[in-house]
Amino acid sequence: MTTQPPTSTNTVWHHATVTRARREAQNGHRGAIIWFTGLSGAGKSTLAHAVEEELHQRGCRTYVLDGDNVRHGLCGDLGFSTQDRIENIRRIGEVAKLFMEAGVIVLTAFISPFRAERERVRSMVEHGDFIEVFCNSPIEVCESRDVKGIYKKARAGQIVDFTGISSPYEAPENPELKVNTGVEDLETCVQQVIDEMLQRSIIARR
Ligand code: ADX
Repeated sequence: MTTQPPTSTNTVWHHATVTRARREAQNGHRGAIIWFTGLSGAGKSTLAHAVEEELHQRGCRTYVLDGDNVRHGLCGDLGFSTQDRIENIRRIGEVAKLFMEAGVIVLTAFISPFRAERERVRSMVEHGDFIEVFCNSPIEVCESRDVKGIYKKARAGQIVDFTGISSPYEAPENPELKVNTGVEDLETCVQQVIDEMLQRSIIARR
């Protein structure tokens, strides 16, 4: 359950008296990481924000970490090479874990194309804390939507290492939940995520 050992040996972990359990009791729900993964344009951010809206209305403490936004700040120094994507997910995993320990339901929306990196984040937290949600949408559908005009650029060779075209996407083999964002409407997908969270007792029935 530990993360990477620190480079400095002169640091000591300080234990808080306000524990995760106390925060969760105050919040009335568990902290958790809801990890959305899928191709660009699969609907990860849209779904994560719609789920957050529903959770917020139920009185839950939530936060969305979103690929495009985080790449403006925390990960602004990273590109899309394999090494940079690995580092991107490592940082997000650490931040998501902090949010979760603060009792928050953190929803992450990153392509996170590599299975090993997603599994690394899973292994950083307790069993049941990491809920992988595969936003399943065929590349044809993502490409036909092309909200950001990015697939067009990738096809034209103006973007290198583009996921699904010139860089791999490794679909989850055993995600906690697979939502068919390519065919189902948003409301249906939101309900599927909420149902999964209820079933796993992350949130309670109203
Ligand atoms: S990840 O692979 O490291 O998880 P992340 O989710 O942070 O990716 O960022 C993906 C977003 O960056 C895409 O939705 C797209 O808007 C943009 N982007 C820019 N270049 C690329 C690229 N080469 N491959 C994929 N997405 C890219």
